[in-house]
Amino acid sequence: MFSFSFVSLALCAVLASAQTPSEISPVLLEPGNNAGKCLTAASNSDGAAVTIQACTGASSQQWTFSGGSVKLFGNSKCLDVTNGSTKDGTKLQIWTCSTNGNPNQQFWYTGDKRLSWTNHGKCVDLTDGNQSNGNRIQVWSCGNGNANQVWNTGYLASALPSKSENGQTGTNACGTSSSQSSQCQTAWINGVDDFCLWAPPSVGTIGDTEREEVAWCTRSGRGTRVIPDGTLKGVHFVKTPDYVQVTGVGDFTKINVPRGDAGGELDPHGADGNGNPIGGLVFGNSFGNQLQYHEWTSFISDTEFCFRACVGPNAARNCQHIYDEMGCFWNMPANYDAGTFESCQGDDDLPMGVYGTSTWFQGVNPTPPAHPAAKSSNCARIPTVSAKPAQKKRDAFTTFYAPGPTPTA
Ligand SMILES: *[C@@H]1O[C@H](CO)[C@@H](O)[C@H](O)[C@H]1NC(C)=O
Ligand SMILES: *[C@@H]1O[C@H](CO)[C@@H](O)[C@H](O)[C@H]1NC(C)=O
Repeated sequence: MFSFSFVSLALCAVLASAQTPSEISPVLLEPGNNAGKCLTAASNSDGAAVTIQACTGASSQQWTFSGGSVKLFGNSKCLDVTNGSTKDGTKLQIWTCSTNGNPNQQFWYTGDKRLSWTNHGKCVDLTDGNQSNGNRIQVWSCGNGNANQVWNTGYLASALPSKSENGQTGTNACGTSSSQSSQCQTAWINGVDDFCLWAPPSVGTIGDTEREEVAWCTRSGRGTRVIPDGTLKGVHFVKTPDYVQVTGVGDFTKINVPRGDAGGELDPHGADGNGNPIGGLVFGNSFGNQLQYHEWTSFISDTEFCFRACVGPNAARNCQHIYDEMGCFWNMPANYDAGTFESCQGDDDLPMGVYGTSTWFQGVNPTPPAHPAAKSSNCARIPTVSAKPAQKKRDAFTTFYAPGPTPTA
């Protein structure tokens, strides 16, 4: 639960000047619009082009934030603005890291996930918003809300580090078994019968344990705990153009939420910049094979839950995490009925807290009503959701998330 106060705002200010991502290097750098693509050096030679390519986890995609630069190949090469030209559209390259602070190699990671060329007002920019492999990356004047300038830090699902954030109590390298004492903090959200919830490692309120929650999943075989049969009393999964969401009811005292706990909100942006839980990572197959969701929000109490994971240019808005006292029904209006287990397609709900051109902030009177739940269709019901093994081989993935290009700046 992230409650706004002067203290947390002060922490945010510190965070904004942190200048490195919360996720521990080396990291993949994925354009905000497509978590399946990665910032990639064409080779390890001086002058090699920097493009986006499908993420493979190769050493040419493993970037380390260090000493004010963004490095790869054993920290020998640096992201570099060709000839230091300040012209919008100048392409990026890699070059041997300078030992005396070459200004062409100085970048910092902003609070809104941009890679800013230090002291130049320029940002690393996905040229023309073009998501094709081989698109060369440029610098461009930093623009608020320019989706081409968002670079998420992340990891390949098949090569997760043991810890992804400092202070993490559990692990992300979870293996392929399952155990009810697992400390796995890697969650999946794939469908009505294949999802995880964040819940305490041992009995404790969500408020008290938010930094330590572990993944409890309907499928065994991903190194997590398994939600005991009989816990889930109703589950509603929906896939929309911009997110997947699972909502429902149950007896979550079976997964360590104390009876009577009104619960709280979990998301990747806690007051100190780390997630709640610290190091909690979320992956899924709905918009690409094993894609990391960089924006997600989830609530759980002793009797209800909701979990939304977002993609695309409006991911942060659709997975807004600042309404932590408003609960599931207000943040994620949807079906929560007991006795129904269903999977639907749906439209996006209106973004939480946004009413036309105005944005409401928690605590301001009056509190506006929740948005209506968006339309859904093609619902398919199943009798119940019980624990099952994760498939060893997933079906070939077909519907990649591939929106059209968006203009730069
Ligand atoms: C960078 O400078 C070199 C040497 O002046 C020049 O040959 C090259 O064309 C320049 N590159 C770009 C992309 O402007
Ligand atoms: C997108 O980038 C690719 C790779 O550089 C290029 O071949 C293609 O022409 C570009 N598409 C557009 C619309 O610019």
